[in-house]
Amino acid sequence: MYYSEELVEEVRTRNDIVDVVAGYVKLQKRGSNHWGLCPFHNEKSPSFSVSGAKQMYYCFGCGAGGNVFTFLMNYENYSFPEAVKVLADRAGVRLPEAEDSAEIRKRENKRARLLEVNKEAAKFFYYQLRDPRGAVGYQYLRKRELTDETMHKFGLGYAGKSGAELVKYLQGKGFEDELIREAGLATHSERHGLVSQFWNRVMFPIQDINHRVIGFGGRVMGDGTPKYLNSPETSVFDKRRNLYGLNFARTARCGNIILCEGYMDVIAMHQAGFTQAVASLGTAFTPEQANLLHRYTENVLLAYDSDGAGVKAALRGIAILREAGLTGKVINMQPYKDPDEFMKALGKEAFQERIDRAENSFFFEIRILESQFDGNDPEEKTKFHREIARKLCEFSEGVERDNYLQAVADKYMIGVGNLRRLVEKYAEQTGLAKPLERPRSGVQPKNDPEESARRSQRLLITWLADEPALYGKIKKYISPEDFTDGLYRKAAERIFQELETGNFRPAGVISMFEDESEQREVAALFNTNLPQLNTGQEREKAFHDILIAVKKNSYEYYTGKLGDDVSALKQALEGRKALEELAKTHISLDERL
Ligand code: CTP
Ligand code: MN
Repeated sequence: MYYSEELVEEVRTRNDIVDVVAGYVKLQKRGSNHWGLCPFHNEKSPSFSVSGAKQMYYCFGCGAGGNVFTFLMNYENYSFPEAVKVLADRAGVRLPEAEDSAEIRKRENKRARLLEVNKEAAKFFYYQLRDPRGAVGYQYLRKRELTDETMHKFGLGYAGKSGAELVKYLQGKGFEDELIREAGLATHSERHGLVSQFWNRVMFPIQDINHRVIGFGGRVMGDGTPKYLNSPETSVFDKRRNLYGLNFARTARCGNIILCEGYMDVIAMHQAGFTQAVASLGTAFTPEQANLLHRYTENVLLAYDSDGAGVKAALRGIAILREAGLTGKVINMQPYKDPDEFMKALGKEAFQERIDRAENSFFFEIRILESQFDGNDPEEKTKFHREIARKLCEFSEGVERDNYLQAVADKYMIGVGNLRRLVEKYAEQTGLAKPLERPRSGVQPKNDPEESARRSQRLLITWLADEPALYGKIKKYISPEDFTDGLYRKAAERIFQELETGNFRPAGVISMFEDESEQREVAALFNTNLPQLNTGQEREKAFHDILIAVKKNSYEYYTGKLGDDVSALKQALEGRKALEELAKTHISLDERL
């Protein structure tokens, strides 16, 4: 931690979460909470809630949640210290310059400078394109049917024929040669000194999700090589973790994201109204990018080139999407090479049709597989069927596997029984008992005992957060030791201590954790859906059940550890006593009783 807990708390309490979030999300007050469309996943009706009282947000759709720091970390991709710093500035809180953070400050300063120099360079290219001397670039883009509006939206530019001008411009703005070089905007030459890296190219500024320019792609006009020249990776340009066009696509909210191969494809699609299009950055699609997409959608449509390389890339992309728990479909671009050409030739209605008819990724894979075998040769055909069976084994869920089995048997006219036997054979051989890692959808199976224990613990904490006065009645039975999960335990220790001193601030508990995903888990502790019950009696029963469930889990947990943990015995004995007592005790939810 770079800042003291007190300071972090001060920063937090001086930034009202409702104000901060309202700067990003349109909120409406309903009941005691504010509601809006969740910025972290795609939805049509609001399940994103912000509580002024709790100073927390929580999405009942995707489970995103936390305090004001978590929100900025999640939305702006800030680290915890960055979020603290930004909010301190916002509220006018002075942060001390911690001595040991000199290294970190230097790094952050470098990042900030790189972003600044990129921004200036983007401006320079932008004006060049609109200057008479940039007419070749402008004409080129016009010929590719881009409107002025589109060129503006994507901040397109032009790098002129003189290698010196950009450098002079940036130097004039006070940027050091070393920084300009590090940003990949210029290279050093013995004869000419620092010269621009991009030369006579139309320029595509690459923006992160917050519209900051992190790098460039430059396209040669005509047939020169390389066709596209891209900035090198820098501390602000991580090609594995960014996607071209995502800064716009993230708010498109149309239930899917379209993944293309090229910058021009993305631009052509947006111009035609498909503002959900993105592309990777001159490199292959990565798992990191898939996870990034998962923040905004469940469905990804691949609009890759229709040539051999495109098909190969699509197959790899499908596997990556699947691993990330996303549903992939493939858009058929035939007879055109890529979305850009398709759009020009057939227009957006035709493209929409292709979207509607996009092929399920499994069938796409099978279809590609089919093309590798000669269907007229029985031997080859058998091999093909074996491959299908192997592929079916990748579904670990029986129902899903069976549905696909039926469908594929139908489609390729294979006897269902034969195919099933083949699948069973391979399943045994490859040990389907240990199924392939299936997408982590974030939803735990309902009958997982650990998860159900965690759920009772969440219910209890949420209930206490809503009615802290109940603490006095339960502290006799429940202690932080009953929270058997490491993260929950750490949070519970703090929560119980705060409840004890009458100083309970849930949002503050969240800041104990610096990692965004931990903050999210802790936020869930305070935001579990409590049972909606009408009568006081029903509520008392529900509360009682939760107490019993928490205690019972803890009792079983410590009993299971009797052999290897000395304190377990004490915990187990105490647990049994508490359970017995709880069983015959009536706990009233009425504060006065
Ligand atoms: N690419 C690259 N370097 C190259 C060629 C391609 O970085 N030498 C990347 C670019 O991001 C490009 C994408 O790969 O957008 C797709 O390449 P390609 O299909 O060859 O280009 P198009 O997008 O079709 O470009 P254009 O329409 O301008 O020819
Ligand atoms: Mn193209």
